[in-house]
Amino acid sequence: MTPGPAPRICRAEPGAPSRPGVMGSGISDMGEATAPPRKRLFIRSWGCQMNVYDSGRMADVLAPLGYGPAAAPDAADMVILNTCHIREKASEKLFSELGRLRAVKREREATGGRMVLAVAGCVAQAEGAEITARAPWVDIVLGPQTYHRLPEMVARASRAAGAVVETDFPAESKFDHLPEAGAAAQGVSAFLTVQEGCDKFCSFCVVPYTRGAEYSRPAAAVLAEARRLVAQGAREIALLGQNVNAYHGDAPGGGTWGLGRLLRELAEIPGLARLRYTTSHPRDVDDALVEAHRDLPQLMPFLHLPVQSGSDRVLGAMNRGHTAADFLRVVERLRAARPDLALSSDFIVGHPGERAADFDATLALVREVGFAQAYSFKYSPRPGTPAASAPHAVPEADKDARLQALQALLRDQQEQFNRSLVGRTIPVLLTGAGRHHGQVAGRSPWLNPVHLSAPGALIGQVVPVAVLAAHTNSLSGTLAAGAAMADSSQRREEPAPA
Ligand code: SAH
Ligand code: SF4
Ligand code: F3S
Repeated sequence: MTPGPAPRICRAEPGAPSRPGVMGSGISDMGEATAPPRKRLFIRSWGCQMNVYDSGRMADVLAPLGYGPAAAPDAADMVILNTCHIREKASEKLFSELGRLRAVKREREATGGRMVLAVAGCVAQAEGAEITARAPWVDIVLGPQTYHRLPEMVARASRAAGAVVETDFPAESKFDHLPEAGAAAQGVSAFLTVQEGCDKFCSFCVVPYTRGAEYSRPAAAVLAEARRLVAQGAREIALLGQNVNAYHGDAPGGGTWGLGRLLRELAEIPGLARLRYTTSHPRDVDDALVEAHRDLPQLMPFLHLPVQSGSDRVLGAMNRGHTAADFLRVVERLRAARPDLALSSDFIVGHPGERAADFDATLALVREVGFAQAYSFKYSPRPGTPAASAPHAVPEADKDARLQALQALLRDQQEQFNRSLVGRTIPVLLTGAGRHHGQVAGRSPWLNPVHLSAPGALIGQVVPVAVLAAHTNSLSGTLAAGAAMADSSQRREEPAPA
């Protein structure tokens, strides 16, 4: 996914701006945190939205120790780099940032000060030993399942000579041991992790190794966290998971709930206007989920459903567990249930063994589905994954050419989708101040960032916006006459755009 001008929730691109205040800047406003902070914390997040969520939770766990937000790493007493391992470039960014911070840390120590430097996230999990060897100035290395142990690690780091490393998959769940989410208030649009890890082992992917086995949080914990987020002002919640629709959490009355049932219960929370979920897998779209799309006006008509390739040969080699026709059937079921549903996806070009004809099948699938948005990547070999040692690597030049052709097609489709909204009045959730005075920023049901002039007092409401212009990554419009509108009020009138 390429960085857009505003937060998008369906992406896993290193360095993409996602939630202002956590990713790429200091931790967010710590709200009603008790005593004034005595120490400054800066968290930089790369990778997927789950890392953004985790960064917020690390801020929560450190708040009782007196850590408040720092504006920049250079002004911080503690810096956490929350890393992504999904593609090679994602891990390289870590080592270049560590090089820069080494100088800052040295300078601090030369004047008698101290800076605690921690590396968290998926690179920490996969390459803990390499990090301590290549960057011995790092104090703490912690994997994604050990964030609840952070206070203890900080204490140990102040005593230890070398780095403190915690990359186990502990028997206890971090979710049971982290403080309640929310000291770092998330604002109008909030993330909520409901599921972690992955058991699918696609040939190319590190996630099963970095995040561990699939785990679903109990439904009661999810509902309680959602209610807290709404009480703090969230109007939209995006449920997160590496395979969020594989969710099967313990139900309050015994048994388990799937994602469809969980969404139904969340939709009952008063004040919660919009629900989304990401990232989903085509294999786990069951009838209950399709019915949730049919029945819940709060569930937004936009779905990120990665397909990776349109060739059955490549899908087989990738161990995706479905064919191109299976994917098309899933799309058909979803669109039958929710005709205004727009789709987004992820694609990989140049997986080992991919031939020109396979790539053509991918283009054909894209033409057949028509995506409102999509992310495409060149295959990047990841150490320890089956594809990394597979024969028939695709030459770099072929990967480049395929990526360019695919991205041109996807860009056309995205522009066409955005243009189809011009002239319509759509419900927009106003999420915050805009770039210019008097402007506010919001989001369409299909996740387009929308810019318009409106009173700041409307932030947090869903308002009708007449779309005046479409740009590649955003829309601009004007407040339409009438009071705040519910998303549901438009639902039946709006045919699928594009
Ligand atoms: N769980 C999601 C994807 C999570 S990773 C799913 O199953 O679809 C996010 C995206 O990164 C993937 O969809 C894939 O397109 C891309 N990706 C993962 N590993 C990659 C690799 N080794 N090289 C290139 N892209 C990769
Ligand atoms: Fe990775 Fe495949 Fe699991 Fe998605 S389903 S996280 S691509 S192994
Ligand atoms: Fe990256 Fe880990 Fe997310 S590898 S995409 S941060 S699960």
